[in-house]
Formats: sequence, structure tokens, C-alpha cells
Amino acid sequence: MISQKPIVVANWKASNNIYKESEKKIGLLFKNLGKDKSKVDLIIAPTFLQLHRLKTFFKKTINLSAQDISEFEDGSHTGEITALSVKDSGIDCVIIGHSEKREQGDTQEVVVKKVKNAIKNNFKVILCIGEKERDDNIKYLKIIEDQIISVFSKVDKNQYENITIAYEPIWAINNKNNISIDSHSLHSMVIYIRKILLENYGDNVSKNTNIIYGGSVTVENAQDILWNGEVQGLLIGRASWDVDSLVNIIKNIIINPKKSLLKVYGNKK
Ligand code: PGA
Repeated sequence: MISQKPIVVANWKASNNIYKESEKKIGLLFKNLGKDKSKVDLIIAPTFLQLHRLKTFFKKTINLSAQDISEFEDGSHTGEITALSVKDSGIDCVIIGHSEKREQGDTQEVVVKKVKNAIKNNFKVILCIGEKERDDNIKYLKIIEDQIISVFSKVDKNQYENITIAYEPIWAINNKNNISIDSHSLHSMVIYIRKILLENYGDNVSKNTNIIYGGSVTVENAQDILWNGEVQGLLIGRASWDVDSLVNIIKNIIINPKKSLLKVYGNKK
């Protein structure tokens, strides 16, 4: 189902590493957001070891996500963090296929395995896809198509609703100059992704899959990207590590600029 509220995923990556500080930060975040907290679907993705402690402390008031899970279910795989162990710590959402994990060696095959593993353990999956660069021959569109189809073709149809697609063009992630996508190009990409879903899995899947955007989202660009890019939410890295910045992003995006435009121009036929 298309989310009625903007989805905000705060990807803390390997930042906020001290548990007590994270706990404090989230307490302050909730306090500063006040009632606005309920106007978004906020999901925080801290480091693995903080997941269980934060869940125990904030209980139902918090939604948490793991940043990854193992491709292996169990067995002799030293150092791996399995889906079942994350689930057992009270977490049921996971980011899979993040470009920083792909850079460390996660192939598309591994990504598919991880998604299958997550779905088997009843997780909600935030599936990251995105091209490294845009070429004039638009080969990058094929990359996006392959990234979607290789996963969806291996997952039971009834589980599609548990997958949120996070479109994250790699050139925009962690960009030093915060160069993000412009909302017009993002909207075109969203239409393209929905077309792939429509042609392969039908109208229902195309209309009901949540698509979010990530890559150098900031306080300044968040509102435009969300509403004019026609995405259901944002996956925010660096700009989510600081309480004020995250609060300001959320306060900006709960206002739909298109609504006020409608008021100005009316809806005359
Ligand atoms: P960024 O990261 O917002 O710092 O660019 C986004 C992401 O990695 O998902």
C-alpha cells in the first residue's frame, strides 16, 4: 500500500557510535518534533549493536531498521549477523543493497539472497537500487531494470508489499558538494520504475509499491525532492545524524507545497 505519510529513513551508517549519545539524541529528536512525529513514518537505522538497546528503551515509540543482514541463514560464517538474530532482537525492517555494501562486495546475487532471507524472516525490506553514473546511451536505465527484476522475480508475489524501493543514484550519495538529483529527473525515474513494475508485475504492484529517494538530501532540497519528485519518502544519510537537521527536514516535508499552489490557482476546469 502506498504510504499515506512521508517515509523518513535516517541511515546513521557508522556514525553515532556511542549508545548513550544515540539514546539522548533520539529523545531530543522526539521532543523537538512533538506532534509532527506522527505526521511521518520515521525509521531510524543505527549501528547493529544499538538496535536492541534502543528498542528496549523506546519500545513502541520507535521504528528501527538494520542497515544490512547476512546472506547466510546460519552455520559456519564467523562474524555474520543473520536475519534471524536481528529479528530475535525485536527488529523487523532492514536496508538491503546499499551502495556502500555493494562497494564492499555485495553483488546483485548476494543482494537477492539477502532479500530472500529477510522476507523469509518476515522483515520489511528497503531495497536500494541506483546507477553509478548516467551515460548518454542511457544504459543506466537497464541497470535499474535488472536490479529490480532480479529481486522481484525471486520473491513471492504476496510479499511485494513488504518491499520499499529506495532509488539512490550512487553519484548523489555522500556527495561532498551535496549534489543531489533534481526533482524533475527524479520524477522521470519514478515513472520509469513504476513502468517496469507495471509491465512485469501488473497494475496493482506498480501503483502500490513505495518508492523513496536517497542521496545528498538536505534541509534545503528535501521538500522539493519529496513532493516534486513524487516519491513516498526519503532515505537520509549525513543530514540525519544531527538532531536539528533531521527535525528541520521533517518540518519542511510535512508541508506539501503543491497544496498551497492548488489554493492559489484553484482547480478550475
Ligand atoms: P547521504 O547518504 O544522504 O549522506 O548522501 C544517503 C545514503 O547513503 O543512503
